[in-house]
Amino acid sequence: MRDPRAIVITGASSGIGEALACAYAAPGVRLALTGRDAGRLGAVADRCRSLGAEVEEAVVDAADRAAMADWLGGLDRRAPVDLVIANAGVSAGTGGGTESEEQARRIFQVNVDGVLNTVHPLLPGMQARRRGQIALMASLAGFRGMPGAPAYCASKAAVRVYGESLRGDLAGQGIGVSVICPGFVKSRMTAVNRFPMPFLMETDRAAQVIRRGLARNRGRISFPWPMAAAVWLLAALPAGWTDALLRQAPRKG
Ligand SMILES: NC(=O)c1ccc[n+]([C@@H]2O[C@H](COP(=O)([O-])OP(=O)(O)OC[C@H]3O[C@@H](n4cnc5c(N)ncnc54)[C@H](OP(=O)(O)O)[C@@H]3O)[C@@H](O)[C@H]2O)c1
Repeated sequence: MRDPRAIVITGASSGIGEALACAYAAPGVRLALTGRDAGRLGAVADRCRSLGAEVEEAVVDAADRAAMADWLGGLDRRAPVDLVIANAGVSAGTGGGTESEEQARRIFQVNVDGVLNTVHPLLPGMQARRRGQIALMASLAGFRGMPGAPAYCASKAAVRVYGESLRGDLAGQGIGVSVICPGFVKSRMTAVNRFPMPFLMETDRAAQVIRRGLARNRGRISFPWPMAAAVWLLAALPAGWTDALLRQAPRKG
């Protein structure tokens, strides 16, 4: 969609979500932003207001289905949502050990259930209007399971494949669906990584790439291209060839 006017962005209190909120903020645009940290979220909302947007912010846990349905339902009734960007996500690694069950479940609750909790309350309205756009934040980490981040990789694979399927189902109903697959982007999430991150990108640059891709209703917005090509190759090669290589890769803490 070229000029969405009513936009929901989850996880807008920092990183890519914050950069996207600022990229879309302009006079005539209504932004609805969430996160859990009220202070950081409020600061982003104020910045977007100073850029001319009308902003409604809410501290909501994306994993809380009832709270998300309540908030999104109210928003859609007040101003029909044109574009929803399900961006909120968490990441954690094994630090060289084994991922705990608790950590794995929490990652799935936020990264997978959180996406469903964001999309589904808005879907009936978009279908009735035969208009809308849905953007799901996946990752290049969702193309091949990497040792060191099993739940994170799997959650992003689920989001990517879910979005790709949804795109086909909703295409005839006037609703666009895109999956966003970034490589490494500078944010609070990657700030904890203690290993070199190839082609590390600034959040503002990532937001520009995403915005351009969404304006063109691209099915998959993968970037930067050398990383996208590398994970494509990793996923295409037989696992037996790449397992040993990936076992040597540094682990996320
Ligand atoms: N940075 C990268 O290299 C990279 C690469 C590929 C994909 N991604 C994806 O991009 C998205 C944004 O990540 P980022 O890099 O911008 O990291 P970030 O700066 O840590 O931002 C994560 C955002 O998600 C929010 N969030 C986390 N848990 C939440 C929950 N339960 N409910 C509501 N909001 C929640 C955070 O808000 P609070 O802190 O206020 O809770 C924050 O606004 C994530 O889905 C991530 O997996 C990032």
